[in-house]
Amino acid sequence: MEPSQHPETNLQFPKGFLIGAAASAHQVEGNNANSDWWHFEQMGKLPKSGLACDHYNRFDDDFGIAQQIGLNAMRISIEWARIEPEEGKWSAAAIEHYKKVLRSMKDHGLTRMVTLWHWTLPKWLADKGGFETNEGVEAFARYAWFVAQNLGKEVDFWVTLNEPEIYTLLGYKQAIHPPFIRSNYLTYRVMRNLIWAHRAAFKAIKTVLGDVPVGIAKNSACYQPFRKNNFLDSFIIFVFRYLDFYLLNRIHKQLDFIGLNYYFLRKIKFDWRHLYLEMKPNDPLNFSDMGWYLFPEGIYRVLLNLKKFHKPIYVTENGLADARDDRRPKFLQDTLFWINRAIEKKVDVRGYFYWSLTDNYEWHDGFGPKFGLVAIDYQNLKRTVRPSAKIFKQIFSV
Ligand code: BGC
Repeated sequence: MEPSQHPETNLQFPKGFLIGAAASAHQVEGNNANSDWWHFEQMGKLPKSGLACDHYNRFDDDFGIAQQIGLNAMRISIEWARIEPEEGKWSAAAIEHYKKVLRSMKDHGLTRMVTLWHWTLPKWLADKGGFETNEGVEAFARYAWFVAQNLGKEVDFWVTLNEPEIYTLLGYKQAIHPPFIRSNYLTYRVMRNLIWAHRAAFKAIKTVLGDVPVGIAKNSACYQPFRKNNFLDSFIIFVFRYLDFYLLNRIHKQLDFIGLNYYFLRKIKFDWRHLYLEMKPNDPLNFSDMGWYLFPEGIYRVLLNLKKFHKPIYVTENGLADARDDRRPKFLQDTLFWINRAIEKKVDVRGYFYWSLTDNYEWHDGFGPKFGLVAIDYQNLKRTVRPSAKIFKQIFSV
């Protein structure tokens, strides 16, 4: 059955299903002056984030909008560079701030999923090599412990790290994010340390808070062989999937749930010279403003692949840049249709967080891409709900 033949408002989701949006501190808060990103932005190596969406001051209004469009959950991140602006110096003001943020979420009926680290580092730690060193791992465990101790009562779900593989790839292999390095050795080392960082933070949170849900946000693409029934293409896909699950295989004992960030369809063709080539799909697919192929069905396939880990799954990110908001409505309908189908196939999916609530700072692409359910006018920071945001009430208030 194709999604278009299906009246989406009839979709049945399990009781307690979380329907939310996600965001990260550096991308929305503004003035993240003690972070490594801010530093590189001032040096002119990255677009300036400046005030971003001024979510730091406008969080209450933003959560009000989330509630108004029918969401019952939000995934935010806590900014390490604010909590520990100097090594070992913990900011009481930052803790007070995040307490207010988390209470405001609760007051707006939003279940609170909190990510401890969404790519930015305190500048002092970046200067010492960040996650290249064991010291970075230890510092992260201390930070996790401190946040659990001080904000633990206000958090419903913990996400230790956001997309460790993508961070490592962009910062240490492709050199387009800080610290702009190209090194296979460091790629391996940072990845390994992030695995340890996750385990250490998991332990710290459990030690402080006992049995609270702790997971990770993991990016997984939908890999497909470019040529059907081609052994070599299929073999490459097999290797990609193996590598894709490497992280989860290494941490599955320290994981109460899997957070899936799904964005990509990747069509792969074996190639004698380059090993593989990434191909454009033959199918007439739409794409986002960033040129990413829109393939909602892919989330179904990825979810089926994740079933073997026997963990609850939350879709912690999924979305598209669509300034005109002309592809987002169908994209959302189709994605929710395919998630629903995965649930019918007994995949334990318990929530969906759209990326993102508002337009925001899209890392090295600056403020160009518009991912938001809510548009931001960067001249005056006015928020305007986009029509596609209606879908949540249509599907979930039945
Ligand atoms: C990241 C977000 C980012 C989104 C869209 C995800 O990989 O976690 O921070 O904005 O992709 O590019």
